[in-house]
Amino acid sequence: MKAHVAVLGGDGIGPEVVAEGLRVLRAVAGTYGHEISLTELPFGGVAIDSHGNPLPPETLRVCLQADAVLLGAIGGPQWSAPTAKVRPEQGLLKLRKELGVYANLRPVKLQPALVNASTLKPEVLEGVDLVFVRELTGGIYFGEKTRTDDRATDLNVYTVREIERIARTAFGAVRTRVASVDKANVLETSRLWRATVNRVHAEEFPDVELEHILVDNAAMQLVAAPTRFDVILTDNMFGDILSDEAAMLTGSIGMLPSASLGAPDAPGMFEPVHGSAPDIAGQGIANPLAMFLSAAMLLRHGLGFQDEAAALESAVDRALDDGLRTHDLGGKATTAEATRAVLGHLR
Ligand code: IPM
Ligand code: MG
Repeated sequence: MKAHVAVLGGDGIGPEVVAEGLRVLRAVAGTYGHEISLTELPFGGVAIDSHGNPLPPETLRVCLQADAVLLGAIGGPQWSAPTAKVRPEQGLLKLRKELGVYANLRPVKLQPALVNASTLKPEVLEGVDLVFVRELTGGIYFGEKTRTDDRATDLNVYTVREIERIARTAFGAVRTRVASVDKANVLETSRLWRATVNRVHAEEFPDVELEHILVDNAAMQLVAAPTRFDVILTDNMFGDILSDEAAMLTGSIGMLPSASLGAPDAPGMFEPVHGSAPDIAGQGIANPLAMFLSAAMLLRHGLGFQDEAAALESAVDRALDDGLRTHDLGGKATTAEATRAVLGHLR
């Protein structure tokens, strides 16, 4: 089968892990006889430098026409001055909005081989296997912003339609329990969220187990008893914060992939959860495994290649079982060595 993937390296370690991700994708495509064409495009801080725009029109056009978008990471200190007029993050938010990718899936699965890599106790972590379903194109990240010398506002807005569709994604995940996380004791948006989630549940998914948890309590439960979670359904900002926290359940944020999905026929976007990590950029030591697992999500959710995705995921598992450890996991393996280890298990 033929597929076209738009590739956005971005900033910091983004281009480094993307380059490795492409090697692995090409290997999978070769093994299974697929033709995957790749178009690399400027995006993020590097695009601000070259085009004065973090999302140049040509980049957006190609992404909208692709079968899927693979993204590294964006951002860095040189583009984040408080007075900056244009920021890499604006490009990412605009791309998510333009692609309509409202559902952000962030699976958090402990690889048994990494049970000692986390700062948390092994007995708390054993069996962690949950997924965040984060609303990605609404809420406070997209509401109107105002700023005067002595006052600033960010508007948090959710509509029933936005909540319904993300709730359906969470209930429709092939899992058994949904924990909907909100702040309904304080926020009106959360009260609408809770009422809407309850209605979608009762009308369309009565067999799925549902509980509501306040976000502050959820933050505590995630480190106290993470195995109680299966699907965590939440809004844009809470999902952003909690998913970084949950990354530590796997030993390193360098392990977490993500998929951002919209309408069934629209291209999805696939990216590691880790950021651009400017402190280690250019050293060849970034962990590419979150990128490989994101590439696997691209194969599964973006292109519909189930076997190919499973093969790549199991190659990552086996490389870890064999002792592969990058610097973030307390080891010495370089980015290139990690890629070789995974490629070795793909054949
Ligand atoms: C993430 C990131 C982004 C977000 C930033 C870079 C805008 O933190 O994908 O979690 O907040 O969504
Ligand atoms: Mg984040």
